[in-house]
Amino acid sequence: PKKLLIDCDPGIDDALALAFAHGRSELDVVAVTTVGGNVPLEHTTANALDLAEYYGMDVPVSRGAGRPLARSPHTAPEIHGARGLGDIALPGAGTCLTGRHAVDTIIDTVAAAPGEISLVAIGPLTNVALALHKEPRLTEWVREFVLMGGAYGGAGPSAGSTSSGNTTTMAEFNVYADPEAAAVVFGAGWTPVMVGLDLTRQARATGSVRERFTDLGRLEREVLTPGLDFYGRSVQYRTQEGPPIHDACAVAYVLDPSLIDTVPARVDVETRGEFTTGMTVTNFGAQPETHNALVAIDLHAEPFWDRVTEAYRTLATT
Ligand code: BDR
Ligand code: CA
Repeated sequence: PKKLLIDCDPGIDDALALAFAHGRSELDVVAVTTVGGNVPLEHTTANALDLAEYYGMDVPVSRGAGRPLARSPHTAPEIHGARGLGDIALPGAGTCLTGRHAVDTIIDTVAAAPGEISLVAIGPLTNVALALHKEPRLTEWVREFVLMGGAYGGAGPSAGSTSSGNTTTMAEFNVYADPEAAAVVFGAGWTPVMVGLDLTRQARATGSVRERFTDLGRLEREVLTPGLDFYGRSVQYRTQEGPPIHDACAVAYVLDPSLIDTVPARVDVETRGEFTTGMTVTNFGAQPETHNALVAIDLHAEPFWDRVTEAYRTLATT
């Protein structure tokens, strides 16, 4: 199987992404690292531990950065609940917390298997930026780096979304929460795969998607239903047709890149805007030698939901 390290801030859609990754036999989650994001670090770490335990993942969890590089924390309790998992109540207390910092776990895991680890970031990019500062050769050693974050702004009423961003008009949450870290990550000389809102808004848990999740036993009753109901009722998503399961899309790319079409582009992160801080300024027409990212544009939604549902079924029955 393909090996992944998931850096996350669970987070309801993070919880669904972890379940997706663990439920696929083609993927092996070798480490989980946590970052402050949707809720403070103490909660994202506790949630990652509890989720790993609940899903039966035998994976080390390492705690990472509790604060962005240069700003005060920005959280999203109105979407994920005060503790980060909405109405999901897990029996608790996963025990696989390592004594190592997430930054060292990222470096050591990737260094131990050059060319083999897919690094997947589904929270603010603080840990990844710090790891790049400490060990720049990470960019050569990873198999690939995929992040859920950003937006190139194919928005507007005709695209079915009212603004490019979801946190401010132009900025997506993970980049807005730590724009300096995102700028480090996009400027590091590798080719991040940017799975941003333009893509993840095509992955909505609509009524017909939710129907696929019936008959999944405890996973459905204890995670999918309370998680998606809470998330779907939140201020951000209640007027929309099903909330987007953003973070699962980054896992989907690692599972099978043919599920997501990408285009090379130049991406720069705005860190000093009056209205645009955290915007991922994307130029698809830039000179090829200036390209620094692969930007996700189209999701093949049917096969995507097939893969997600299969993974949840596997998890529910084992
Ligand atoms: C991203 O922000 C978080 O709230 C979600 O977990 C996801 O990673 C979407 O903008
Ligand atoms: Ca997340």
